Amino acid sequence: MIQIKELKKSINDRVILDGINLDVKDGQTLCIIGKSGCGKSVLLKNIVGLMQPDSGSILVDGLNVPALNKNELFNLRKTIGYVFQGAALFDSLNIYENVILRLYEHNERNKEVLESEAKRVLSSVGLLPDISEINTTYFENEWINLSNKMPSELSGGMKKRVGVARALVGTPKYILYDEPTTGLDPITSEQIDKLIFNLANNLQITSIVITHDMFSVYKLNCDIAMLNNGRIHFFGSSSDFNASSDPVIREFLERYS
Ligand SMILES: Nc1ncnc2c1ncn2[C@@H]1O[C@H](COP(=O)(O)OP(=O)(O)O)[C@@H](O)[C@H]1O
Ligand SMILES: [Mg+2]
Repeated sequence: MIQIKELKKSINDRVILDGINLDVKDGQTLCIIGKSGCGKSVLLKNIVGLMQPDSGSILVDGLNVPALNKNELFNLRKTIGYVFQGAALFDSLNIYENVILRLYEHNERNKEVLESEAKRVLSSVGLLPDISEINTTYFENEWINLSNKMPSELSGGMKKRVGVARALVGTPKYILYDEPTTGLDPITSEQIDKLIFNLANNLQITSIVITHDMFSVYKLNCDIAMLNNGRIHFFGSSSDFNASSDPVIREFLERYS
């Protein structure tokens, strides 16, 4: 599980996180919501060790992330998939290369291993046929067609799926999504929400989803942690969130749903 205690982070003398306490249980899907600029991405970056907090602890399976050395962090990252805000594919790499990047960084060079993992994850996100069809001409043709494509040839929704596929490489225990549906049309957003929901439930991946879209929260049927003024302002179910008379929550609901 992930246990965050009294996490504080200032950037350029501005307090962004002001004592975050948050637990994410194994198997849970947690949505982190809050206004634009309130520190959601900063929180996620602290969890994966891309940013160092000023104080506090972040335990992932008992390991305190800010205290890990480079090598320990490298190993921990194998268990955490991260879907960056805006998909963030490398434009100069084809889809196959984008997907296997993490394995490559972890020194996997066996072409068969790399390809079979890419096929598995691309199938999991619905960009390739069901994995049971692997080795059929149909599957292999689709694979050749997709794997050689460049990101610029894909739609916004497909790029997001590739971003999710990349995070699924190596079967992580945790997956963190930073605004996975922002910038997508409503139908594509719903498809991505469905994908996140299915991955969390079918593969038992503990998931943190950052969003400011209440429709996603309802679709994902997840617990909510609301960030406001550097603190967790609300933690609970979406029905309790909706029923709350708290002015900060009411304002958020009026603006984002
Ligand atoms: N690398 C950085 N350098 C300077 N300011 C940053 C940096 N990252 C985030 N911030 C600031 O921290 C605040 C929180 O940012 P962020 O976590 O990205 O917000 P959001 O909740 O929209 O994801 C914002 O005011 C942002 O400008
Ligand atoms: Mg953000």
